[in-house]
Amino acid sequence: MVKIAVLVSGGGTNLQALIDAEAAGMFPNGKLAAVVSSSPTAYALERAKKAGIPTYVVNRKEYASNQEMTAALALQLKDLGIGLIVLAGFMYVLTPELVDAYPNAIINIHPALIPSFCGEGCYGLHVHEKALAYGVKVSGATVHFVSAVCDGGPIILQKAVDVLPEDTPETLQRRIMEECEWKLLPKAVQLFCDGKLSVEGRIVRIAD
Ligand code: GAR
Repeated sequence: MVKIAVLVSGGGTNLQALIDAEAAGMFPNGKLAAVVSSSPTAYALERAKKAGIPTYVVNRKEYASNQEMTAALALQLKDLGIGLIVLAGFMYVLTPELVDAYPNAIINIHPALIPSFCGEGCYGLHVHEKALAYGVKVSGATVHFVSAVCDGGPIILQKAVDVLPEDTPETLQRRIMEECEWKLLPKAVQLFCDGKLSVEGRIVRIAD
């Protein structure tokens, strides 16, 4: 059984998709064991409490640097016996202290088709503002393993949606969440827990 920790910073709709997937029996080989928030007021914490998942706050403000915060996180997650870390709207870039401790065992969801509209500073609504300003006709979401390069790790799953002429950043964000993110993230977690993902270089192979 893979113990899963979900790292959050905000509303937690992707966390909710994971909670619902677990309740629907999608993770016979995994268990949502911890939700860690970078903010004590994130609504995602309420979702976790309602689902009976232990919650933790690792407040960035209490650490001198991002590096110190992620080193503390790595210790805590190892202590809890976590085997898979899921970044679900976690707004800090992880440093090698955590990335090296969990090689190909940290999954991130990004609200664009990587390598478009990604990298440092590209998160949340900004991603959709950039996509609309560029004039792309499709966008979507990507689930990928986390490496030392921000949004640069091996891609696990991607899904696209059409960009509509009347789209605002908010409507595009919502469509990508509903049609891509909330489906891809539980699927990727399921594949990981079932031992179906293997990584060769930057290529992810998915077993039948
Ligand atoms: C999601 O759209 C997620 O893809 C994005 O933040 C949102 C969090 O929403 N993540 C990033 O931009 C990471 N670069 P949620 O808290 O409702 O899941």
